Amino acid sequence: MQYNGVIERYKKYLPVTQRTPIITLKEGNTPLIYANYLSKLIGKNFEIYLKYEGLNPTGSFKDRGMTVAISKACEEGSKAVMCASTGNTSASAAAYAARAALKCIVLIPRGAIALGKLSQALIHGAVVLAIDGNFDDALNLVREITVNYPITLVNSLNPYRIEGQKTASFEICDSLNDAPDFQVMPVGNAGNITAYWKGYKEYKKLGKIKILPKMLGFQAQGAAPIVRGHPIKHPNTIATAIRIGNPASWKLAEQARDESGGLIDMVSDREIVSAYKLLAAKEGVFVEPASAASVAGLLKLVKRGYFNRFSVIGSRLSAEHRTPNTKHQKIRIVCILTGHGLKDPDRAIKSVKEPKVVKANLKAVLREIGY
Ligand code: F0G
Repeated sequence: MQYNGVIERYKKYLPVTQRTPIITLKEGNTPLIYANYLSKLIGKNFEIYLKYEGLNPTGSFKDRGMTVAISKACEEGSKAVMCASTGNTSASAAAYAARAALKCIVLIPRGAIALGKLSQALIHGAVVLAIDGNFDDALNLVREITVNYPITLVNSLNPYRIEGQKTASFEICDSLNDAPDFQVMPVGNAGNITAYWKGYKEYKKLGKIKILPKMLGFQAQGAAPIVRGHPIKHPNTIATAIRIGNPASWKLAEQARDESGGLIDMVSDREIVSAYKLLAAKEGVFVEPASAASVAGLLKLVKRGYFNRFSVIGSRLSAEHRTPNTKHQKIRIVCILTGHGLKDPDRAIKSVKEPKVVKANLKAVLREIGY
């Protein structure tokens, strides 16, 4: 049977009806990849999985929310949509709006979004305005404009975005036959952590899973308002996707953290780049820097011994949460990899050595490759 996107797969759990025109690029259904290298690195009591959201149609998890937001905008008769973006939301909004023949307007912080994302918004025909300010300034403008003009806001403040994005947690549970013990993810505007937590709680209520994961969110050190407890005026990080100083879903992220017994912490740009390179070189998975914040966070917690109490009482954690005859006694951790590495090729090139130039002859090439 053909796969037809997250709305068709999960419509029972989404705010759609027979009358909703479904605008889809067959987003979702992304792979949950077992991380061989990381699992070995962390120890025998752990299984690490990578939810590779970079394989969505526009290269990020935003497509899950956008299919619902754009479909509902069409159903409600909207003619135009608008968002502020660090890049991925604008790429996704532009693509889905193009498909629905809606006007799309995006505000981006000037000079601060990755090239791949900018190219997407432009080629899909959005009106792209680069403002002389950061993401938070852009979002404030979009909120004001969409309140006063007939334009639908498609940032994650739009509840349909959250509804669509929660389908990623359904997919994880459907693959693992339960929720993982921990989920690690980057936090920017905090819509995604809100969406995952909503999804897990709904599945638990429906009896489809037995446990709830602890939510472990990571901000970039230079853009860590939730960790520091106050907005950051001039957020800064190489992970431009999460360069946000005043997240719209701040309180909901804290709620996910606290209800789940998890945490929200930060990682430095150096830790992000190191995880970014590790994922590409050891797992074969190319992500954008912001996505690597999840694995950087995981490694930081391992180093700090955060998981020791769980590994020491590993079976007790299982016993507490699971039925006694469960097959999975290992602790399962899912890292969310939110966007594709090709979004930001400049960063990849800057993170490694440039290719060596050699003469176009056999001898020179063989000498370089050690034969
Ligand atoms: N990872 C990537 C690749 C992102 O693009 C974003 C957010 C996040 C993580 C954080 O998710 O905001 O829900 O906490 N990007 C938004 C954008 C802000 O405009 O594309 P969040």
